[in-house]
Amino acid sequence: MSETPRDTENLLRVRDLTVGFHTAAGQVDVVKQLDFDLARGGALGIVGESGSGKSMTSLAIMGLLPKGASRSGSIEFDGTELTTLPERAMRSIRGDRIAMIFQDPLSSLNPYYTVGTQIAEAYRSHRSGVTRRQARKVAIEAMERVHIRDAARRVDHYPHQFSGGMRQRVMIAMTLSMEPELIIADEPTTALDVTVQAQILDLLAEIRSDTGAGLILITHDLAVVSQVTDHLVVMRDGDLVEQGAAEQIFTDPQRDYTRMLLDAVPRIDDEIGLLRTLTAPTAEEES
Ligand SMILES: Nc1ncnc2c1ncn2[C@@H]1O[C@H](COP(=O)(O)OP(=O)(O)O)[C@@H](O)[C@H]1O
Ligand SMILES: [Mg+2]
Repeated sequence: MSETPRDTENLLRVRDLTVGFHTAAGQVDVVKQLDFDLARGGALGIVGESGSGKSMTSLAIMGLLPKGASRSGSIEFDGTELTTLPERAMRSIRGDRIAMIFQDPLSSLNPYYTVGTQIAEAYRSHRSGVTRRQARKVAIEAMERVHIRDAARRVDHYPHQFSGGMRQRVMIAMTLSMEPELIIADEPTTALDVTVQAQILDLLAEIRSDTGAGLILITHDLAVVSQVTDHLVVMRDGDLVEQGAAEQIFTDPQRDYTRMLLDAVPRIDDEIGLLRTLTAPTAEEES
């Protein structure tokens, strides 16, 4: 709509992002002057050990930092500067244009409502004039898209009636129903066993190619990003250690720290896509 020229190549452009906590001992920076871009339709992996600032980076993008934390720098999403955006405008972006998937779907799902009700109500809260009946249809379709079998029946089940992997599928369905342009998945498979992990990663890759949404996949596990992302950012103690094409970082890491992370990856063979072999035939448990 606007005539102003803008960065049309990148969906997300992060510059000089710093996240700090005010503590009794003064300001402590947990993300330090981070720069990275996410191309339209691209998939970016943010990798680093626990405590390296990955979650604070994603929460800074979402404008959901915890109390006591502040951010500086620039976060440009589809040409809009998010750091100065009023909360009201941010609320219409969050969940709708930028959606987030967390490690533990149980903490994001309400145990007292059916998954269908939760997907439908989340959808209705972002789309005015949608009836309950229409939203329920959207919920069933979204569940079908994430390959939950018998979705028309499962839509009326409660979170505890789903396995961990299936609950994560429900969360992804909820995300999908919003048709976001950017999906941020923060350790989405960390709580899952390795076979189910691979299936969820395949699903994220499929969604990305089906919808053209950009993806940021955050993980401490390099094997996880190898399967899905094309660009990698490696973080340590809030610093950017290195970044580049995923393939380049896998085959020719420039930093000892990255090499150390790579050495921790269980090697099935020397190819990229280590978990591929695990993904194919096994059916995930249903309940
Ligand atoms: N509420 C808080 N107050 C002070 N420091 C915090 C708070 N929450 C997180 N941190 C610190 O911020 C750093 C980065 O945390 P986080 O982004 O969650 O790491 P990661 O997701 O990479 O494991 C950690 O050192 C953590 O201890
Ligand atoms: Mg984290």
